[in-house]
Amino acid sequence: MTKADWTTIEALPSPRLESLFAEDAARLASFSVDVAGLHFDWSKTHLTADAVAAFTALAKAQDLHGKREALFAGEAVNTSEGRAVTHVAERGEGSEDDVAKARVLHARMRALIDAIEAGALGEIRHVLHVGIGGSALGPDLLIDALGREDSRYEVAIVSNIDGAALEEVFARFDPTATLLVIASKTFTTKETLTNADSVLQWMGEHGVEDAYGRVVALTADPDKAVEWGVDETRVLPFAESVGGRYSLWSSIGFPAALALGWDCFEELLEGAGEMDRHFRQTSLSQNAPVLAAFADLYYTQVRHAETRATFAYDERLRLLPSYLQQLEMESNGKGATIDGEAVGRPTAAITWGGVGTDAQHAVFQLLHQGTHLVPVEFVAVIEPGDTLSEEHHRQLLLNAFAQGAALMKGRPNDDLARSYAGDRPSSTILLEDLDARTLGALIAFYEQRTFVNGVLLGINSFDQFGVELGKEMAKAADAGGQEFDVSTTDLIKRAFG
Ligand code: F6P
Repeated sequence: MTKADWTTIEALPSPRLESLFAEDAARLASFSVDVAGLHFDWSKTHLTADAVAAFTALAKAQDLHGKREALFAGEAVNTSEGRAVTHVAERGEGSEDDVAKARVLHARMRALIDAIEAGALGEIRHVLHVGIGGSALGPDLLIDALGREDSRYEVAIVSNIDGAALEEVFARFDPTATLLVIASKTFTTKETLTNADSVLQWMGEHGVEDAYGRVVALTADPDKAVEWGVDETRVLPFAESVGGRYSLWSSIGFPAALALGWDCFEELLEGAGEMDRHFRQTSLSQNAPVLAAFADLYYTQVRHAETRATFAYDERLRLLPSYLQQLEMESNGKGATIDGEAVGRPTAAITWGGVGTDAQHAVFQLLHQGTHLVPVEFVAVIEPGDTLSEEHHRQLLLNAFAQGAALMKGRPNDDLARSYAGDRPSSTILLEDLDARTLGALIAFYEQRTFVNGVLLGINSFDQFGVELGKEMAKAADAGGQEFDVSTTDLIKRAFG
């Protein structure tokens, strides 16, 4: 059944984008969706009614409806690890039991924030959050996007084990007014624990007598955090069923809630919840995460695109592409199906991107004239994030829109070097305004789109065994118990003698 569906999909035609508009006056309406303050436009992609029908048949064969309901019901959809996936419960959309647990956690987060604000841990002006991957990228994105004007604390998020990252923060933070936040789902990650040790040492060296009294831990393994030395009243444990790259809604979002205020964090959750409800209740042909996934699969499976690029035409969203890299590539960069067979087709496209208009002057040449087909996604905000003259924002948006038009239209020329073939796809996500609610909806959209891609490809989006081997080998090398190949042995010798 599924094989036949893929055969139909692979045989989908690729008419020129401009002809699709010429033939169908209602194309824009058919391929755009408005939800939660976000406008999505896929009309400049090669999606057609036939393509949507073919992908809808695949969705049926892959039981997208059933799997979506299983996700929201808190069933064990992460089959390889035998556990549920409950980040949706953090925004009030999971099973009653999971939602109740998330509410308990949020109440604890809120109480600790109130206590810190009331001075229970002494004067706190600086928040140093150490964590990596999903324990850093989410809060970093939130604070960078929403905390530019009203952040209550100066927050630094340090992920890299390279000491240069911490030293840069030590140079500007006051150790006597710093709160250390250790974020690690497993509480075993070498980078994070090494950085946490160094922060404590720095505090101690600068006269902080009870440095441990200024530590908060965000983890799914509270015992390990307590064993490490964090007082259990300052350990905020989230559910094991919340995956690292889906965890910003849980206590991993703590630094954002602290810096931006609890109301803001709640609005973020509400915006995400609104997107969840849209995803759950809307027919596939009008469903934003579903249509986005259909377009993703059209380009990877039919047109063999190897990458997809997201450009944030808003400085406040400059961290979005790196956030998406983990979300999409760690989730769907897989080679086996959920049944343990070779997947036999490309899975996640390589996610990359940047910030507009900067990227136009660096990488857009390849998008317009290069030999790779790269579906482009523009993300822009109607309300400006700056208070300078309107001209800045007007030009920013016009550039985003013009790039999409140019990619599609092209400009044929007899001189090949000057010729733009055009017919290059792009989609646009236009936010009315950038606030906690719309950002929550935007991130939830990307999460659900990733889920749909995984379901249609028949893979498990919620494990990440591929990152383990390198970690294990680095650990073994550290302990001196790893035999390496000739090249690696030589590199180690050159570095350490
Ligand atoms: O190495 C990958 C990974 O496991 C990610 O999935 C995760 O977000 C990151 O490491 C950090 O893990 P932890 O939160 O357990 O420190």
